[in-house]
Amino acid sequence: MNADNMNADKNTSPNKTMPFEKYKQFKPIALPDRTWPDQVITQAPRWCTVDLRDGNQALIEPMTPDEKFKMWNLLLELGFKEIEVGFPAASQTDFDFVRMIIEKDLIPDDVTIQILCQAREDLITRSCESVVGAKHVIFHLYNSTSTLQRKVVFKMDREEIIKLATDATVIVKKHTDQLVAQGTAITLEYSPESYTATEMDFAVEICAAVMDVWQPTIDNKVILNLPATVEMSTPNIYADQLEWFIRHLPQRDKAVISLHTHNDRGTGVAASELGLMAGADRIEGTLFGNGERTGNCDLITMAMNMFSQGVDPKLYLSDMPKIVAVSEECTKIPIHVRQPYAGELVFTAFSGSHQDAIKKGMDFVGDKGAEWEVPYLPIDPADVGGSYRETVRVNSQSGKGGVAFILENYYGVSLPRPLLVEFSPIVQRASEADGGELKPDAIWKTFVSEFIEVEGPYKLIDYKVRSGSNELETCKASIKVGENEMVVEGQGSGPIDAFIAAMVETLNEPLNVVDYQEYALNEGSEAQAICILALTDEEQNKYYGVGISPNTTTAAFNSIVAAINRKWRD
Ligand code: KIV
Ligand code: ZN
Repeated sequence: MNADNMNADKNTSPNKTMPFEKYKQFKPIALPDRTWPDQVITQAPRWCTVDLRDGNQALIEPMTPDEKFKMWNLLLELGFKEIEVGFPAASQTDFDFVRMIIEKDLIPDDVTIQILCQAREDLITRSCESVVGAKHVIFHLYNSTSTLQRKVVFKMDREEIIKLATDATVIVKKHTDQLVAQGTAITLEYSPESYTATEMDFAVEICAAVMDVWQPTIDNKVILNLPATVEMSTPNIYADQLEWFIRHLPQRDKAVISLHTHNDRGTGVAASELGLMAGADRIEGTLFGNGERTGNCDLITMAMNMFSQGVDPKLYLSDMPKIVAVSEECTKIPIHVRQPYAGELVFTAFSGSHQDAIKKGMDFVGDKGAEWEVPYLPIDPADVGGSYRETVRVNSQSGKGGVAFILENYYGVSLPRPLLVEFSPIVQRASEADGGELKPDAIWKTFVSEFIEVEGPYKLIDYKVRSGSNELETCKASIKVGENEMVVEGQGSGPIDAFIAAMVETLNEPLNVVDYQEYALNEGSEAQAICILALTDEEQNKYYGVGISPNTTTAAFNSIVAAINRKWRD
């Protein structure tokens, strides 16, 4: 935009509106004596993953049999005990997959497979064929009950819809009785699809009617799954709908209340959480919330939210990088860098003040013991396969803390504060010039060229140090000055003093060592010493130099030469 255009736009901010009148507000139900807001989640629900059905159904490229199997194995590894494996009556791939895991005996005894089926006799028959020989099966029957779908899709009244559901339940009972006789334990799950868009009294009526046909017992409960097929309201309204439903359902003790939220308003996890507070027992969802449109409830986020509150999530999510990799491979959908608990950047701080607070928090936790209290980090990244090192990354927004953190944690180099103050703006300039993040190796290279392999005329070639009878040491060193090689000699109370004396004579200028530290960089036969040293000249200008060598004296001499080259350069 040129300056003229800018002036033309001055004081003319856009004054447009969206066609919001087209939409109507979702009507909440009246539940003034609601009790769910006072509840706290203290235990994990029964989890059911629908990755292999709702998740798979929503992919641009549905999973191949190999990918389905890979995902199945991952779900088992994560500890899921109820897994919806497909919609076998609607998909030959799903049918074959169900047969394969049954015939190859790949379903652990404590795992129940779930199959989805619409309320139609031909589909129910086919679905039952798919699970012959399985030990435990949840038969998931559904039909839409919403006011809108009854009106515009099915053109049926309430009674007709109830008849459709109960007739289908009779058929499921008839077919599954044969499976039960052959040794399969069957649980019925009934979903009034689009529950949230159904009148609450009707939702209760149809579920109760299905229960009357199925005849659940306290030991063999029916699962009533109450889906937010399309998320239509704030999650508190869903919680009200659930509390109302649970209060009014006859024979509540013979039903497991299950939730199946979608994420159209971005609150699928919140709705499931508030739903648990409202009395639900079971949660359906998918890894990272994959599923139709905006997806389903994200089970990883929900389980990790519990974990971060000190509640055992009853899922094993310690290898998040693997969960991400398998999920991305099978769904071909990348996990966002900001995906809670799993994205590449979710434990990373670029800002200097955040980096500083994290470092202080980590030191505090380290001193204090096990309880996690670190600013900006809701959980310890190590608990999900991350590392403390990854929490700090450096760009132009970062400060001294970030630079110090990288040098310490990646290279074992701890800088004295004045050197850090000198080096940090150099890193900032480099990152501004680069326009992005400076990776640890780039920061290290900058440090090396600035303080270790400093460009300049002086280079140490060789040296010898001798102890004399007068308690002084003599250093004789060959150094390169520009293109010439020369020998310098000096005496001092130790090798460093002696070398400084030799260089002072050559440069014909007094130099004083004002800061000095030397320590091992690593252990064992590969051990290297690092010497960080500062010299001042006649005018009290201070120059840091750093030397690294397996030999401590060589490291020290190199640091002196580096400091002198920096003086020369300035
Ligand atoms: O979202 C939904 O309503 C469903 C049903 C089939 C349970 O996926
Ligand atoms: Zn769904």
